[in-house]
Amino acid sequence: MSTKATKRTARVKPGQREEETLRVLISHKRIRERVRQMAQDIRRDFPNEPVHLVGVLKGSVLFLADLARELGGEVSFDFISVSSYGKGMDSTGEVKMNKDLDVSIEGRSVLVVEDILDTGLTLKYLLRLFEERKPKHLRVAVLLDKVERRIADVKADYTGFVIPNEFVVGYGLDYDERYRNLPDVCVVRLGPRGKTKIEA
Ligand code: PRP
Repeated sequence: MSTKATKRTARVKPGQREEETLRVLISHKRIRERVRQMAQDIRRDFPNEPVHLVGVLKGSVLFLADLARELGGEVSFDFISVSSYGKGMDSTGEVKMNKDLDVSIEGRSVLVVEDILDTGLTLKYLLRLFEERKPKHLRVAVLLDKVERRIADVKADYTGFVIPNEFVVGYGLDYDERYRNLPDVCVVRLGPRGKTKIEA
């Protein structure tokens, strides 16, 4: 696990917004290797039982898809949608339910799958909600953890990478719905000469 950024820099292509610069923070190769290790850790803890993955839309979709393939054994999926961010790059602290789960989690071994743990407010809300529904086990896997941003007292059981407090996109994470399809996790910088503007 490392938070060291690579020096690789890629200007966005014509047709995209010229002033945005992406810097690869975690390459897809490193993500793939780490997801494989996480799946092994999860299967070590749940060797013989079905694991019910609960993806938190939309950022977790790529991570969940890769994690599910690495897990093997009996795996099922469900998805929930909540909003925790306002527009722009900072969290509002509000959590709102947009779409609930389709099926009951009572008696199941549930693994909540998140792309990023930031303030922790979303996860705190979800854990409280899910605990009331009496799962057999309730665990959390996050790909990225911005530990220094934490407000709520929550932590993941399985963490991919601890990252610094920079705005990241790619591998499911977006900036205004763009960049989710990038294979790497990248830092977005706005403005000339790498100067970063943070917009509320
Ligand atoms: C992101 C992420 C988590 C949440 C974490 O979702 O997927 O759900 O924010 O932030 P927190 O720890 O500060 O609560 P977002 O609201 O950006 O939605 P998205 O996954 O659809 O992009």
